[in-house]
Amino acid sequence: MISIEEGSYHYNNQIGIHDINLEIDKGDAVCIMGPNGSGKSTLLKVLVGLYALDSGKYTFNGEKINAAFLKDQDKIGKFYQQFGFVFQNSEIQLFNMSVYDEVAFGPKNLGLPPEEIKKRTDDCLKLLQIERLKERVPYHLSGGEQKLVAIASVLAMNPNIIILDEPFNGLSPKYRTLITKIIKQLHEAGKTIIISSHHFNQVRDLVDKIYLFSEEHTIKQKVAIAELESLPRFVEYLDNL
Ligand SMILES: Nc1ncnc2c1ncn2[C@@H]1O[C@H](COP(=O)(O)OP(=O)(O)O)[C@@H](O)[C@H]1O
Ligand SMILES: [Mg+2]
Repeated sequence: MISIEEGSYHYNNQIGIHDINLEIDKGDAVCIMGPNGSGKSTLLKVLVGLYALDSGKYTFNGEKINAAFLKDQDKIGKFYQQFGFVFQNSEIQLFNMSVYDEVAFGPKNLGLPPEEIKKRTDDCLKLLQIERLKERVPYHLSGGEQKLVAIASVLAMNPNIIILDEPFNGLSPKYRTLITKIIKQLHEAGKTIIISSHHFNQVRDLVDKIYLFSEEHTIKQKVAIAELESLPRFVEYLDNL
């Protein structure tokens, strides 16, 4: 479904990602790990089409995702709809005047009938346990509450691929547990899950595979969780990222 071959992206003269190879299949749950500044967020932004690769090849379901594709208004709508992206600083993706409107925004934008908009919004508020916040202004909420609202607003669009950039950062154990449970449910329901993290113990029960970035902004290793038992030094490295 997702394939990147020798993909690179630069910010002016700063390397974002360099020469990476990656394959993600439908229904996979993968974690992108690596030290701070190694390229995790850049890669996720390439996957969802916010950035086009400078060199190398990104294909999504056989379609080449390059700068020309991302400018093609007839094609990008369907591509973007595949993804739900929860940003690392998820407060930047909240702009409505109430939590309810925030979660309803996506379904409304998809042009769904009013009863479907209401159902999806209510379901997602319930799933994230934020019904009590529905009249509140998202901007005024705590960081953890904002993260839950951002996830609810992404899930309300029912994307096939759910991408969460460092979803556990700065969250209390209670919120971490809730988000972990929801991600597991989504994976069991057949969604493709892509998470970035540099906390191995927070993701090891959630994903099947780990892609590890090096300081050189490239992916050095791809390891299945099932293989980890035989790789204690690798686990130690991940624990100390
Ligand atoms: N907007 C930007 N402008 C210039 N350099 C950037 C920008 N965003 C990220 N970078 C650089 O790209 C590299 C990869 O960053 P990023 O993908 O954010 O890493 P990570 O998410 O793994 O912490 C870093 O060296 C970072 O400084
Ligand atoms: Mg990042």
